[in-house]
Amino acid sequence: MAKTTSPNSRKPAQLGDQTVARGEGGETHQVAGGDVPVLTTQQGVPVSDDQNSLKIGRRGPTVLEDFHFREKIFHFDHERIPERVVHARGYGAHGYFKNFASLAEITRADLFQRAGEKIPAFVRFSTVAGSKGSADLARDVRGFAVKLYTKEGNWDIVGNNIPVFFIQDAIKFPDMVHAAKEEPDRAFPQAQTAHDNFWDFISLNPESINMALWIMSDRTIPRSFRFMEGFGVHTFRLVTATGKSTFVKFHWKPKLGMQSVVWNEALKINGADPDFHRRDLWDAIRMGAFPEWELGLQLFDEKFADKFAFDVLDPTKLIPEEELPIRRVGRLVLDRVVDNFFAETEQVAFCTQNIVPGVDFSNDPLLQGRNFSYLDTQLKRLGSPNFTYLPINAPKCPFHTLQQDGHMAFVNPKGRVNYEPNSWGGAAGGPREAPEQGFHSFPAEEQGQKARVRSDTFADHYSQARQFYLSQTEIEQRHIASAFTFELSKVETPAIRARMVAHLLNVDAALAKAVADGLRLKEMPKPAEPARPVVKTLKPSPALSIIGNPAGTFEGRKLGALVSDGVDAALLNGLRAALEKEGAVLKVVAPMIGGVEASDGSWIEADEKIDGGPSVVFDAVAVLLSDAGAKLLAEEATARDFVADAFAHCKFIAHNGAAAPLLAKAGVAADGGVVELKAGRDAAAFVQTCRQLRFWEREAKVKRV
Ligand code: HEM
Repeated sequence: MAKTTSPNSRKPAQLGDQTVARGEGGETHQVAGGDVPVLTTQQGVPVSDDQNSLKIGRRGPTVLEDFHFREKIFHFDHERIPERVVHARGYGAHGYFKNFASLAEITRADLFQRAGEKIPAFVRFSTVAGSKGSADLARDVRGFAVKLYTKEGNWDIVGNNIPVFFIQDAIKFPDMVHAAKEEPDRAFPQAQTAHDNFWDFISLNPESINMALWIMSDRTIPRSFRFMEGFGVHTFRLVTATGKSTFVKFHWKPKLGMQSVVWNEALKINGADPDFHRRDLWDAIRMGAFPEWELGLQLFDEKFADKFAFDVLDPTKLIPEEELPIRRVGRLVLDRVVDNFFAETEQVAFCTQNIVPGVDFSNDPLLQGRNFSYLDTQLKRLGSPNFTYLPINAPKCPFHTLQQDGHMAFVNPKGRVNYEPNSWGGAAGGPREAPEQGFHSFPAEEQGQKARVRSDTFADHYSQARQFYLSQTEIEQRHIASAFTFELSKVETPAIRARMVAHLLNVDAALAKAVADGLRLKEMPKPAEPARPVVKTLKPSPALSIIGNPAGTFEGRKLGALVSDGVDAALLNGLRAALEKEGAVLKVVAPMIGGVEASDGSWIEADEKIDGGPSVVFDAVAVLLSDAGAKLLAEEATARDFVADAFAHCKFIAHNGAAAPLLAKAGVAADGGVVELKAGRDAAAFVQTCRQLRFWEREAKVKRV
């Protein structure tokens, strides 16, 4: 009888700590046994050799009948699915939503009927313009999509980290996205709006100006998903069991406050750690520091809508929370990372149309268009109408439909019923309507001529942009001017640069001048002609500022300690203890990844080698060196960058006296943000100082153009 075992004989070999089997060609084999399961094909057939395809003779051709090889390569060839056309780069996590109290007087939504109700949730954060592989710190809007698995179906709040949007009508979405993405002939720039097409589009669409101010603010370079707000943007409705409707805008407020990075830092983070945001979320959840937001509602009626200065159906406008306070109604906690990125984060499908009884739409024309778009694109992206049955998308309450078949139909009804009405009674008759419990659209009265028009109540394009700008601190206003200057400096067509400045003249004269000066425009353009006169009397809304609403804590933040051999162990340990007490983290950065020997002879493991852990990935730094270490690192460019960048980005810098030569070489000047630690007990005061997050007083000294 022919031998069926492999003719390829194997001998044991040692690879570092691993004992493996080695084939005749020197290839590594690892075999099943004990706890290690047997590798099989998708049909469940055990595989004898996963290193070699089936050949005729040792050096002969590969044979077509090698079903294991065929299946493996076939599957690999089809691993990719189309990425999302927008928001391709994202990161998700599981958690829960728990309400603070019953809201039965406002909505019949099941998740708000019983005080303290807790339901599962899944959240996906994203950037908009870049492809799936783009870097996390692109200047971009962040998607903030929340799926709430309620007992009466899935409710998706598909929002952003900015409360307004670029356009007023969904028919403009393809144009807006085309303009923002890479230019079609050259396929660059990727994940950036700093190019002609984008600013050409914006400058010809004054309705985008409010959003333009927002995207040029620090909101589009968040430090972490954990430190940003979320917004449902549109006006929705909440509806009670008796049919009473209240308009609502949704807000997510981060527990640890808001925080952004500075632009030069963002550019460098993208090189140092393109996965900065996803790593941050993964690390925080894995260490038990669960990110948390409160859901806030701005509730209003027709009377408020009528007297409000703007149309509540216009998604380029917000309602200032000083004018309409936010009622906090529950908390969203993310406490579990995904088991598999593809299965959950990539295959999750959010849709603005996924609402539950007690929630309803408004006539916002952007929302109405979105309601069509998501399902349509997801059929293409996920390849079958059965994507709703994927575990991440399926409701966690019972569901019964009469839909059937299609690609990958893996949830199928039993029995003969696939239609109704039918005469098969009881369970055999399948699911039936529920007139009371079922979803009822709010019976809004609609009338009017059929026409392609834009309401004249949408025509004020500048007043809220001005209000947003005037609500920022001076530092943030400077950042906005710098961001416009940066982006428009990448625009090659001078007329587009000037056109944008023409719009900014309607927002704020000083802003327009700062940008015009930054671009060295030879002459100031005339203001763009507004469709409606700019209202200059809107009161600033302090809630719109990040820096003006300090987090007041260093919790959830990270300090990078650059150390050398001979580091004062007591000082380092004191700092670590003070940070832990605050709920912050200390990461050790050393010349070599193996770590350093401290002054007391103890060994300190490093988290990063210096060039893998630049200061841009930390919120504050400490430079704790021996005399010899300082001398060495003063001659090391990566160490000088570590310190110089921390200083330039207005971070708090702690140091021991011995670190002075490195600080001097890196151009650090003494100021209130540079703090000498003499003993471990000084650390607590330093960590308290770090609660301010940045030493902004320094910025005017280190950023002159
Ligand atoms: C207020 C305005 C908008 C907001 C806040 C918003 C938000 C989002 C978010 C957060 C995602 C990512 C969902 C995920 O994580 O999977 C997304 C995806 C998407 N959005 Fe929007 N969007 C807006 C406007 C629009 C408009 C006007 C359209 C089209 C008419 C649109 C079409 C899409 C499409 C096609 C996707 C990809 C969906 C997928 O493949 O799963 N969006 N949007």
